[in-house]
Amino acid sequence: MLEKKVVLRAEDVRREFTSGDTVVEALKGCSLEVSSGELVAIVGKSGSGKSTFANILSGLDRPTSGTVTLMDRDLAELDETEAARMRAREIGFVLQKDNLVPSLTIAENVAAPLVMGGMKLSAALEKARRALDEVGLGHRAEQWPAQVSGGEAQRAAVARACVSEPAIVFADEPTGALDEENGRQVQEIFRKLVLTTGAAGVIITHDLDLAAGADVVVTVADGVVVSTERKA
Ligand SMILES: Nc1ncnc2c1ncn2[C@@H]1O[C@H](COP(=O)(O)OP(=O)(O)O)[C@@H](O)[C@H]1O
Ligand SMILES: [Mg+2]
Repeated sequence: MLEKKVVLRAEDVRREFTSGDTVVEALKGCSLEVSSGELVAIVGKSGSGKSTFANILSGLDRPTSGTVTLMDRDLAELDETEAARMRAREIGFVLQKDNLVPSLTIAENVAAPLVMGGMKLSAALEKARRALDEVGLGHRAEQWPAQVSGGEAQRAAVARACVSEPAIVFADEPTGALDEENGRQVQEIFRKLVLTTGAAGVIITHDLDLAAGADVVVTVADGVVVSTERKA
């Protein structure tokens, strides 16, 4: 059993968006703790602040106030270069769709984070193909994103997000564009890939069935965390 440790901690995160004289308070003080080996689902209606929260938790966006600590480092204290390196090494991200680069093969897409991290292309492609085998896509490795189904593209996107073994992997509505069966497969693969590497996973969804498979379910409503349910 891998030892659990807190990977990510958000404390009293607020985020305001200003356009002209209107201020939207997208997050009004949200806190969250995510440990390694743990799958957390963030649920809530459309517009409740889930994506804003995920973007801040993953360092893509900065909070108006509050702190986010990843692997004991306060993200606000990192300079641009450190922040970019931290994101590349420690954070994986899966979006709803349009996740893959169309001009790269499936294997090249999965290998991309490794190559950007300095691995030689041949070694990266070999590792990418192994990752694709794990998600049942070994036979698609040399195809183009346009040649695979939506479900297969998302499984490849999960493989790409996990291939460099980040500390935490986020998925923002990863099954939102898929039918039920493909959605279930993507979620299972996400859980398997994330948790077998001892990483932490955060799935953002408005699908309560999908959230039911998580270890912790965090419900966001109108910019506030209204409940955090942890499975025994
Ligand atoms: N870049 C932005 N500029 C202005 N308002 C935004 C921006 N991003 C999100 N919002 C607003 O913040 C609120 C939360 O949005 P979001 O986090 O995307 O919700 P969800 O992902 O739960 O659907 C919404 O009212 C949305 O309109
Ligand atoms: Mg969203």
